[in-house]
Amino acid sequence: MSTNNVNNAPLASLDEWEDDLLKRYPDPETIATSKSTEEYRNYEDPRRDTVKEFYRLNHTYQTSDFVAGKRKDFLKFDRKEMTVWDAFAFLNELVDDSDPDTDLDQFQHLLQTSEAIRRDGHPDWMVLTGLMHDMGKVLCLFGEPQWAVVGDTFPVGCAYSDKIVYPEFFKNNPDHDNPEYNTKLGVYECGCGLRNVNMSWGHDEYIYQILKDYLPEEGLYMLRYHSFYAWHREGAYQYLTDDHDKKMLKWVQLFNPYDLYSKNPEPPDWNKLQPYYEKLVNKYLPKTLKF
Ligand SMILES: [Fe+2]
Ligand SMILES: [Fe+2]
Repeated sequence: MSTNNVNNAPLASLDEWEDDLLKRYPDPETIATSKSTEEYRNYEDPRRDTVKEFYRLNHTYQTSDFVAGKRKDFLKFDRKEMTVWDAFAFLNELVDDSDPDTDLDQFQHLLQTSEAIRRDGHPDWMVLTGLMHDMGKVLCLFGEPQWAVVGDTFPVGCAYSDKIVYPEFFKNNPDHDNPEYNTKLGVYECGCGLRNVNMSWGHDEYIYQILKDYLPEEGLYMLRYHSFYAWHREGAYQYLTDDHDKKMLKWVQLFNPYDLYSKNPEPPDWNKLQPYYEKLVNKYLPKTLKF
């Protein structure tokens, strides 16, 4: 199934959002090399406009009501029950329109993330977190528009931070002019903790909710907030966080470079890796997961 033939789908593939993240947050280890610097400087890239249009839709339509509706619907988990391995096969039905020959499939991104975490000797639950972190993108295969699956996430029900990419598009969001929602704290209390904050709806919250009984708290934060760049990269929204969030922040920050900078054109050799991952999945996860 293509991600491009639904309405509201400016991105040729979900990866365009992640490619744009790399321009915003280039890899400090490769930024000095001339090739990558040139790539990051390529402002003529036609993808920039599609990413901008994607954010216009995301910032316009991710309202508090929209999020409440999606939570009510998707958190019933009544769509599909699959083994982890069937879920990867399902996720891989998301095919990239822009460049099917050179872009790696979704599973390869997950495996490269988890392998980079493993190589650095992190705990096995973090390897599994890397493997699972984008599984929520199956939302696209349930008919959800790109702007409700990927993109930087942000709290709804309170004022938008100007640290969120393209903040000017929030003027189109009906919540922007709602006095209940448009103050600094909006519907929240100062220091209430992120667990009490509704984030814009997307693949992060969805996979967190699916796996919340199976991974340690640090891993769950990585799943739930990996696209909350305004918080983990820009330091915004401190007034909504509590001491627990502050402790967990360093884990989310530890995870982020593995997500952003582990992409490699060489796919890992799955045949060699399979026994390790089967054992890992069996150690933490149940036989089937409910979507
Ligand atoms: Fe992601
Ligand atoms: Fe990712």
